Amino acid sequence: MPLTYQEAVEEIKSRLDIVEVVSRYVVLKKSGANYMGCCPFHQEKTPSFSVNRQKGICYCFACHEGGDAITFLEKIQNKSFKEVIEDEAKNFGIELPATIGGGNFSKKKTAALEAMKKASEFFTENLFNSPDAEFAREYLKKRSISDEVIKKYGLGYAPKGYDELQKHLNTDISYLETAGLVSKREREKGYIDRFRNRLIIPVKDENGHIVAFGARALTEGQNPKYLNSPDTILYNKSRILYGFDTAKEAIKELDSVLICEGYFDAISLQTGGVKNAVASCGTALTQDHIRLIAKYCESRKIYLAFDTDNAGQMATERSAELIKTAFGGLGDIKQFDSCYVAGGGNYSCEIRVVSPPEGKDPDEFIREKGGNAYIEHMLNAPLLLDYRLDKLFSQYSSDMSPLAKNDLVAKIIPLIEEIKNNIVQNEYVKRVATRLQLDEGLLLREIKAFRAKNDEFEEPVFEQKSQIVTKSSNFIEKMQKNLLSVLCTNISDDNRSELIRIIKTQKIEEKNLKLLAETIDKIVFKSNNTKEFIQELFNEFQENNEVKDIITDLIYLSKSYENLTDKEIQTAMFETKNKIELFRRREEIKKLRLKSKEDNGVNGEVQYQITVNEKLKSENWRNNQ
Ligand code: CTP
Ligand code: MN
Repeated sequence: MPLTYQEAVEEIKSRLDIVEVVSRYVVLKKSGANYMGCCPFHQEKTPSFSVNRQKGICYCFACHEGGDAITFLEKIQNKSFKEVIEDEAKNFGIELPATIGGGNFSKKKTAALEAMKKASEFFTENLFNSPDAEFAREYLKKRSISDEVIKKYGLGYAPKGYDELQKHLNTDISYLETAGLVSKREREKGYIDRFRNRLIIPVKDENGHIVAFGARALTEGQNPKYLNSPDTILYNKSRILYGFDTAKEAIKELDSVLICEGYFDAISLQTGGVKNAVASCGTALTQDHIRLIAKYCESRKIYLAFDTDNAGQMATERSAELIKTAFGGLGDIKQFDSCYVAGGGNYSCEIRVVSPPEGKDPDEFIREKGGNAYIEHMLNAPLLLDYRLDKLFSQYSSDMSPLAKNDLVAKIIPLIEEIKNNIVQNEYVKRVATRLQLDEGLLLREIKAFRAKNDEFEEPVFEQKSQIVTKSSNFIEKMQKNLLSVLCTNISDDNRSELIRIIKTQKIEEKNLKLLAETIDKIVFKSNNTKEFIQELFNEFQENNEVKDIITDLIYLSKSYENLTDKEIQTAMFETKNKIELFRRREEIKKLRLKSKEDNGVNGEVQYQITVNEKLKSENWRNNQ
């Protein structure tokens, strides 16, 4: 009999080995009972990422990312739970029941998607056939965009009227509002079409669903130049790269991606033969964009092709840094082109900058010189390091002031210092010295001094590790987490029962922690051992990432109880419980003091003392103080 979905999930989870899973992304070394490596979720040089095979989880002591194998895969590949399960089912040859697929979209989402699709068809129909769209057709002709391209990218024209789309779609207006197609009118009743008298560019998610529109102005004085869909349940601009759906196969095949700025850059590039081009649509690249790319581009070879103006250069720098940070934990960035360098070929990422000297954006360049000329530039695109150095070299002139020269060298030194290979670094030192007419020895000394200063400021990782800081800053919440965490280690049955009793009497305020405590109460006596208990917990919350993060925190908090005797654990439990009570009373007294001051003016302090004394007598909690 085929497995149910939940059974298949269990089967996959039991077959996944966390050490193997994390090793797909992180180089791990055995260290005691755990494995350690550099965290793939933030940049670091000393390993803080710990993997525990027995408990089936991983955790970063520095940035607190982590989870079980599935959560790890979700995060690192930017996939949903279901997507990861589908991948792993394929890996293991486990058949999933055919019930899902589209079923996980909420009704609202489905309706909004449907509205987007219908709207897009309406806009395209208008572009081809409406007499009003004549000038839009002219505009596209001038941009050398053929009918074939219009169809492929689903371009359209939004008519002038304020409600033509609403009238045409004739559906529940709330769906159109959810999809960002209309907005409420300010003074009058009713709604107004968001996109009017503009050229429409549908924005699709990686699976080709239309989730947003970009709408370009067509007439003089029409502002802004591009009007885009707002963020909706379908669209989050920091997650979508324009053109990804048509580029993803090429990205996989070529194992590289080119990122440009604009809608039309992506269209011209793809049409001109750069099939792996996508656009960030004028916004800065985000971590989510990068994860999306990493999902399809295994070697993480990325061409940055932003405009050459100032804003574009800044976007290049920022994006490059973001990419370096995102993949930093995976190894070194490729710094130079050579097949002779030891360890060559194994890089965390490769960043190249395409910036034709003509200074045009890719769309203009291709319209003028053709796709092949652009590809030529791409093939010769310098690596990030060389691009940066060339840019700085171009600021040099032999008659610049000594101070200006000093500033320029100060910008170059960090770039050279970063070069990992000593021989290559030495070559670069020579090159810089010659190019800037500097003394080679002096430059070397400056680089060393820079390195020494840098090391001084690097945060000692040990300190981060010695204290397990959970994400909560609130004292009581922290202590409550501590209590719950004791359940994630091997404890005696007596202690477990006592602990559950203590937890039940706790007033837990944080909603996720509360939910977790309630669930623990339900499942704790059903599981036979700690491992099973932890797995059960992850199962219960398989699609709730916030709770899963707390579970991960708990498991790592529990480490401090690992080697204690039953008696010691018992003492720790009661100490924590008492600390919480004491803290609550102190807070209460603080409140009382304030209140009696307010109520009784100068006599407040006296009144307060009386109240406290009464409380002390009635509750007899002096011992705890
Ligand atoms: N953009 C935007 N809103 C604006 C301006 C720009 O969303 N008001 C985004 C668009 O995705 C645009 C990209 O930023 O494609 C790049 O902007 P820009 O260089 O100004 O436009 P181009 O792509 O060159 O547009 P065109 O070729 O149509 O002039
Ligand atoms: Mn342009």
